Amino acid sequence: MIESVLWDDWHVVAELAELQRRGVWHTRLLGVALIVQWDPESGLIRARRAAEDPRSGSARAVEALEVRYGFVWVSLGRPTRPIVEFAECHEPDRLLATAGSVGVAVSGLRAVENFLDLSHLAFVHEGYLGEQPHTEIAPYAVETLADGTLRATGCRVYQPKPSPVESSGFDVDYIYAVLRPYIVVLFKANPVEQSRKDMIALFVQPVTEESCVAHILTCYLPHEIHPPTVRRFQQFIFGQDRPILENQTPKRLPLGARAEASVRADLSSASYRRWLDAAGVRFGAIAASA
Ligand SMILES: [Fe+2]
Repeated sequence: MIESVLWDDWHVVAELAELQRRGVWHTRLLGVALIVQWDPESGLIRARRAAEDPRSGSARAVEALEVRYGFVWVSLGRPTRPIVEFAECHEPDRLLATAGSVGVAVSGLRAVENFLDLSHLAFVHEGYLGEQPHTEIAPYAVETLADGTLRATGCRVYQPKPSPVESSGFDVDYIYAVLRPYIVVLFKANPVEQSRKDMIALFVQPVTEESCVAHILTCYLPHEIHPPTVRRFQQFIFGQDRPILENQTPKRLPLGARAEASVRADLSSASYRRWLDAAGVRFGAIAASA
């Protein structure tokens, strides 16, 4: 039995453009093998379980399916809440672009935690999202909002190349929000309009407990930004994270407080693990009591 907080929620299973190119997409969500099909005549998208139901002998259709933000979303259960909403995506001058889907042989919870981790930027993304000796992480705050969102504010980090188009470095303000166990979004000060923020969302598809696909959505302000450049930049950055992620052991994320020592730089990581534990998330995790 997979916990309702995941089973009855929405997850991305394919990038729409990629599905349309191929027509058929084989994937897996929460361990369940799925076949997603796009019919070019009607434009309809259908998803069904790849394995037949042993009682009825039929492959069960996935009823809950929607297209949003350039991705195909499904729920294997009965969705109790809507797909995540972003006010920024409705602003008319925004450039909404998918930036690819990357398979990673590690728990998706590890991918979310890594995305939240400020301390790795100067090392893993040196020359882009961080630089030595600017490795010190200034104090920031983490809180759980009334709607359940886990939010980190006041994050500030020196970045030599903070965006696909920026060539000069500056101190970048960050806000992180974990909206669902496998969904995290980053708001980052725009270099031109410093009062507004670019948005990068990571929709992590839990494939199995120890593998995932990270689907990236970017919602930039339009200053000199072009989707192919954004895509290349994000894939390059994620390509730097991937080997680090795949070398983490264990592959599932331990939720116990003492499982891995926490320091101030890892405040968001420790908070995320506690938040997951409190929400009853087990898929992709090693329970605190284990
Ligand atoms: Fe990273």
